[in-house]
Amino acid sequence: MSVTNRPRPGPSAASTADTAPKPAAARHVAIIMDGNGRWAAARKLPRVAGHREGARAVRRTIEAAIGSGVGWLTLYAFSSENWRRPVTEILDLTGLLRQYLRSELEELKANGVRLRVIGDLQRFDPDIRRDLEAAEHATGGNARLNLTIALSYGSRDEIVAAARAIAEAAVAGALDPAALDEARFASFLATAGMPDPDLVIRTSGEQRLSNFLLWQAAYAEFVFLDVLWPDFGAEHFEAALGEYARRERRFGARPV
Ligand code: IPE
Ligand code: IPE
Ligand code: MG
Repeated sequence: MSVTNRPRPGPSAASTADTAPKPAAARHVAIIMDGNGRWAAARKLPRVAGHREGARAVRRTIEAAIGSGVGWLTLYAFSSENWRRPVTEILDLTGLLRQYLRSELEELKANGVRLRVIGDLQRFDPDIRRDLEAAEHATGGNARLNLTIALSYGSRDEIVAAARAIAEAAVAGALDPAALDEARFASFLATAGMPDPDLVIRTSGEQRLSNFLLWQAAYAEFVFLDVLWPDFGAEHFEAALGEYARRERRFGARPV
């Protein structure tokens, strides 16, 4: 596997063994799971085969996140723009989502995973919405891994919805515009209460956000991997965490 970000030269172990500040472990990892179609095309298989294999990679990734002690994992599964795909592919994807929810719920519960979903769920069939709500409810007491799936999610949509809700609250006299700050604004986003992602991983070699967590990823570290999502596994997850650990996060302050 190759990490396509140019690695920063790390401090040498000899000179900094006792003095270098230890980078904090990533608390929240967000992943843009891309490359299912190309995985299938490379095997002359229909795209749905790539999506099916992609669901297996989701299972491996959840296990890897639990194993590495990451508390928050957010997976971009379907964007608001993905509704532009052919209806047959959308049916395949929603079918797999239905299947996934039914086959994985017990496992999620047993592993202490709390499931949340962000995105415009109104666009899904009522039975899927019901299953999603039931899964969120059934796992609501878990705390080992906070798993968020972004479905029919678009960050611009989310920000506009927050702005609209804020404007309505202001018009109703429930919110003083002068008191609006970043924390208050963030409390109107779908991710309210969640920590910002420390690390955003994108597979498939593409290097863009595709409308994912634009506000929340303001200071995230990015790792772009050449691996296609269906081939993603614990070794890639660990490699991305390792790359993250070598980064120096400054948040605009002077380098230490
Ligand atoms: C990611 O794989 C899954 C979704 C976006 C739903 P793609 O379907 O985008 O695969 P590529 O990018 O065409 O290879
Ligand atoms: C981003 O992948 C969305 C998901 C992974 C769910 P896309 O394949 O839709 O992104 P673009 O179209 O290449 O930017
Ligand atoms: Mg893609």
